Amino acid sequence: MGLSLSVSQLHVQLKSHVAGQKALRGLFGIEHLELADGHSLALYGPSGSGKTTLLNHLAGLSSTPGSRVLWTKTLSGQTAWQQDVTQLQGSSIDRWRLQHTGLVFQQFQLFASMSALENVLTPYRFDHWRCPTSARQRAGQLLQEFGIVATAPTGKLSRGEQQRVALARALVREPDVILADEPTASLDPVTAAQVMDILLQKCRNQGLTLIVATHDAALAHRFDQALTLQQGQLVPLETA
Ligand SMILES: Nc1ncnc2c1ncn2[C@@H]1O[C@H](COP(=O)(O)OP(=O)(O)O)[C@@H](O)[C@H]1O
Ligand SMILES: [Mg+2]
Repeated sequence: MGLSLSVSQLHVQLKSHVAGQKALRGLFGIEHLELADGHSLALYGPSGSGKTTLLNHLAGLSSTPGSRVLWTKTLSGQTAWQQDVTQLQGSSIDRWRLQHTGLVFQQFQLFASMSALENVLTPYRFDHWRCPTSARQRAGQLLQEFGIVATAPTGKLSRGEQQRVALARALVREPDVILADEPTASLDPVTAAQVMDILLQKCRNQGLTLIVATHDAALAHRFDQALTLQQGQLVPLETA
């Protein structure tokens, strides 16, 4: 099952240089953002609006003093645990991310010379000397489900197939949350729709929480919530 998310007081500023002087420029400010366990959220906004920066904060890859990014696990109606990722540092945040999140990127970030199976298993390389047999089985099952030959050299696969390998890699450790940064932006429209179908279906079936940054507004109606970063604010996306 997934995690619920509660973000508060996330006011992100960027360091910039104006006429040789260091200055701060506000990128966006989020007073509150809530997402229910197992729900999907689309984050829209033009290039440069801060979608990647926001995802990085949700994953604990960046943090801003004074903010709170609280993830909560609920089991049988009771809070099982809560973690404000802004409070974790160093290897603790890396471990937390590895255990609870699956990340998907626009440019796939796969090793072209490795097989599809080896790519899917890379998240185990960080903390396992040998990859567990159960992980190999799960990786094989995911690839089969996504229609990919496990032994295929990844660099020879089509772009849609490569992104499906990346989805399998994000799912293989059975995360609670999938964070995807423009996962379909480098695919043609038909392939993009297929990849998004798989991602939404998989997260719904397993009750995973899904947050996707995208600039494809046509996908809005497929998510439980759709928000857009506009002039530094996170507001509901008008889909009319
Ligand atoms: N580490 C950084 N240092 C300074 N500026 C950054 C950094 N990362 C991103 N930015 C700037 O922040 C803005 C938002 O970037 P980003 O989050 O990548 O937006 P988006 O994903 O919506 O295109 C851009 O103007 C970008 O140049
Ligand atoms: Mg981006």
